[in-house]
Amino acid sequence: MIIDLIKKLQKRSNSILSDLLLPNNVGQFELVDAMRYVLMSPGKRIRPIISYLTADALDVDLNEIDYPAASIELIHAYSLVHDDLPAMDDDDLRRGLPTCHKKYSESTAILAGDALQSLAFETLSQIKDDYAITLVKELSRASGVMGMAGGQAIDLAASGENFDEVSLENMHILKTGALISASVMFPYIIGKNNDSHLFNALKQYARCIGLAFQVQDDILDVEGETEITGKPKGSDYKSDKTTYPKLMGLQNAKKRAKDLVDESCDAISFLGSNADTLIKLARYIIKRNN
Ligand code: IPE
Ligand code: IPE
Ligand code: MG
Ligand code: MG
Ligand code: MG
Repeated sequence: MIIDLIKKLQKRSNSILSDLLLPNNVGQFELVDAMRYVLMSPGKRIRPIISYLTADALDVDLNEIDYPAASIELIHAYSLVHDDLPAMDDDDLRRGLPTCHKKYSESTAILAGDALQSLAFETLSQIKDDYAITLVKELSRASGVMGMAGGQAIDLAASGENFDEVSLENMHILKTGALISASVMFPYIIGKNNDSHLFNALKQYARCIGLAFQVQDDILDVEGETEITGKPKGSDYKSDKTTYPKLMGLQNAKKRAKDLVDESCDAISFLGSNADTLIKLARYIIKRNN
C-alpha cells in the first residue's frame, strides 16, 4: 500500500530532520525552539517522500537521499513560516497548531524562516560527493526568484485581481512546483544519470505533479475541513486569492488536477514496473484530504 510506504518514509524524514536541529539548550533559546516547533510539527513530508520514491525508481541508494531530501523540507518549512506572516497570507493555523508568529512573535518567525533556510544549505554542504554543488545550484534556483520566492511574489501581487489560466499556472509552477521539481531531480543528479530522455521525462512528471499538488491545495481551501487540513478553511477566499477553483470553478479544477496526474503518469510509463510507485504517488497527490 502506498500509504504504508508514505508513513515509513515520513518517519525516516522526521528522524533526519530532528537530528539536524540544535538541542534546545544551545544558542538563542527562543529561535532554536521556534525552529524545532516549525520543523517538527506534523507535516506530510511529501517532498522528501517524492525524493525517496524517485531514488527507488532510479535504483539510487536511499542513504544518499537523506540529507538532500531534508534540505528541501527545510526550505519548504521556512517558506510556510513566511507564507503565514501577516504581511503575506496572515494565517493563524498551520498543521493544526498556532502559526509560528502566533506562538512566538513576528520577529522570531522571520528569523526562524531565515535560519531554516541557512540550515538547508548547510545540510547540503555536509555532503562529500562532488554532486553536492549541483544540488546547491538546483535548490538555490528552486527556492529563489526563479522558483518559490518568485512565485510567492506573483501570488501576492495577484491578490484581488483576476488573471488568466496561463499566468495562474506559471505562478503555481514557481511557488510550489519548483521545490517539488527539485525533489524529483535530486535523485537524478545523485545517481549521476546522463540520459536526456530520462531527464525530460522526470522534468515533465515533476512539472505535472507539482502543479497538481497546488491545484489540490486550492481545492482543499474550498472543501477541506480545518480539523483535517490543519489550516483555516477559506483563507484564499478571504484574501481574494486567484486560485484554480476561483478561475474555473471547483469541478473544472478537479478535472484539471486529474488530467495533470494522467499526464505525469504517461511521462514516466516507459520506466515500466520501476514507475509503479511514482504513479501511485501521483494519484495520492490529488486524493489526499490534508
Ligand atoms: C503546503 O504544502 C503549501 C504548498 C506549497 C501547497 P504541504 O501541503 O506540503 O504542507 P505540509 O508540509 O504537509 O504541512
Ligand atoms: C503556499 O501556497 C506556497 C508556498 C510557497 C508556501 P499557499 O499559501 O496556498 O499555501 P498554504 O495553503 O498556506 O499552505
Ligand atoms: Mg500563500
Ligand atoms: Mg498560505
Ligand atoms: Mg493554499
